[in-house]
Amino acid sequence: MSLLTELLNLQEQHGWLSKDRLRTLAKQSNVPLHQLQSLVSFYTHFQTTAPAPLELHVCRDMTCHLHGATQQTELLKKQIVDTTHTVIKEVSCLGRCDNAPVADIDGCPFSITDLTASNANTTDLTAFVPPPLGPSRMIPWDGDRFRSDPYHSEKEHYQALTTMLDQTKGAEQAIQTLKQSGLKGMGGAGFPTGVKWELVRNQPGHPKYVVVNADESEPGTFKDRALLEYFPHLVIEGMLIAAHCVGSQQAIIFIRHEYRHEKEKILTAIRKAEDRGLLTLVPLKQLLDNQNPDQSSTLEDNRDENLIEVSLFVSPGGYILGEETALLEALEDKRGEPRNKPPFPGTAGLRNQPTLINNVETLAMVPVIMQQGGDWWKSQGLSSFEGLKFISVSGHITYPGTYEVPVGLPVSELIERAGGVDSGRRLKAFAPGGASSMFLPAEKVDTPIDFKALQDAGSMLGSGALFVVAEGTNMLDIAVNVVRFFRNESCGKCVPCRIGTQKTVALLDHVRLGTQPCERLQVLPELAETLLQTSICGLGQVALNPILSVLEYFQTDLPSDTNIDT
Ligand SMILES: Cc1cc2nc3c(=O)[nH]c(=O)nc-3n(C[C@H](O)[C@H](O)[C@H](O)COP(=O)(O)O)c2cc1C
Ligand code: SF4
Repeated sequence: MSLLTELLNLQEQHGWLSKDRLRTLAKQSNVPLHQLQSLVSFYTHFQTTAPAPLELHVCRDMTCHLHGATQQTELLKKQIVDTTHTVIKEVSCLGRCDNAPVADIDGCPFSITDLTASNANTTDLTAFVPPPLGPSRMIPWDGDRFRSDPYHSEKEHYQALTTMLDQTKGAEQAIQTLKQSGLKGMGGAGFPTGVKWELVRNQPGHPKYVVVNADESEPGTFKDRALLEYFPHLVIEGMLIAAHCVGSQQAIIFIRHEYRHEKEKILTAIRKAEDRGLLTLVPLKQLLDNQNPDQSSTLEDNRDENLIEVSLFVSPGGYILGEETALLEALEDKRGEPRNKPPFPGTAGLRNQPTLINNVETLAMVPVIMQQGGDWWKSQGLSSFEGLKFISVSGHITYPGTYEVPVGLPVSELIERAGGVDSGRRLKAFAPGGASSMFLPAEKVDTPIDFKALQDAGSMLGSGALFVVAEGTNMLDIAVNVVRFFRNESCGKCVPCRIGTQKTVALLDHVRLGTQPCERLQVLPELAETLLQTSICGLGQVALNPILSVLEYFQTDLPSDTNIDT
């Protein structure tokens, strides 16, 4: 078993990691104690002190904050009488923004509104049983069938894969179809998927790995969670097709620990695929140990070998682990700090071997493209736009949820589909691509949902998360909350990101308190540029985006009427 998995299991079993248990694990695993301690101190999920009998974890990030989580947490903290028994902890985004504000007890998420609206005694939560959240709201573009799902019944599942395996040049053709479709990575960077697969396929070396990135942790983003819940078989099929195409027999699904329910869904789907003889489920250590990196093998040698080894790896958490090289470090039992690139994972990834990493949604789209063809996929976009997309919609919106949309749909139409801004209010601002995308003013709401169109409008499609803000909201307050999230989640490897985000939050707090003049914010565009140029990974590169949007579009939300030149 991997060390991180051992640590997670120990914590699950005992509630925390005592010194004695760490010592025993170090001995059993034959690793120095300091190695375990360096892991435990990096991953915030690990606890080295005994937890209180009842711990309430409240999300403090963007969507929950917008829905009053901060005030409700303060209120709850004041109400709790026995603070040795019940502790309220603020945690990072739980990926349940469609039910905001949310909290969890023992890993069971629930809506705080259910807590305050129920008859629960908020001074003593001992008897409170969290009401489970219902299934995610997932809405197809037309009718009640999702265009992205090529299958009408369970019997049909995996047809795209078996068709490909039956063809002599199935893998080459599949890559051509993907390239033809123009499918782009849905994890945020938008890299062309077919091109990436071809690069990994053409890499010499064995073994090769395929990794499904299900770490989704950016505030406002929960589309992957909905896909794992509704279409786990499409994700697995996309992953298996990818493995066959790049010449890999080892695939790993990397899922955040908060997605317990979705983990069960994907496990059930894995077992069904196993029954069909398409894969075999193995522990990560076995998957890695079965390999001899020196073994020379070619794609041709593997062509008849259809059985793929699959492992499910539960991530100990932290937004940074979604970054593909931080994720690889975690799989190698190291602290999840991003690597310098190049080399990219496609050439030197897991254990320095060629590794294909794709987002959940990217892989879930593969079966329908294989079944319907690249041109069909392209034709799904509106007017000159191409393809389909899933968008998480949250914030001040009547019906939050995950929406399937044709690429090119104006943001305004998606807002309308989701019931409009809540309580009949007018739109003030929106972030089209999660917390890291720039907030745009209502005037730009007709921008089409598309990588380039949103970039041209001054923001980005990012993680595919539309966050809606109603009139009457102070954008500085939202921006400070988001920058604080990036400060909290910075892995600290590079100085500009680690110190830059700290200094920015401190400055913003001062300005809000009136202890520093608003003009001091003038330094932020230059600081943001420094972070962009000098940070190793995307977190630092975009960390100041939210505050830049305030300086650009919402200066009237600053404490005084200062004019800050952006
Ligand atoms: C800080 C940070 C967090 C990220 N989180 C995720 C994530 O949770 N899921 C994801 O698929 N990609 C995430 N990414 C992007 C990945 O690094 C990578 O580009 C992606 O998994 C590649 O898959 P794709 O080509 O299918 O998009 C993140 C990037 C950064 C910089
Ligand atoms: S930019 Fe920030 S999060 Fe990314 S590697 Fe550097 S310190 Fe870590």
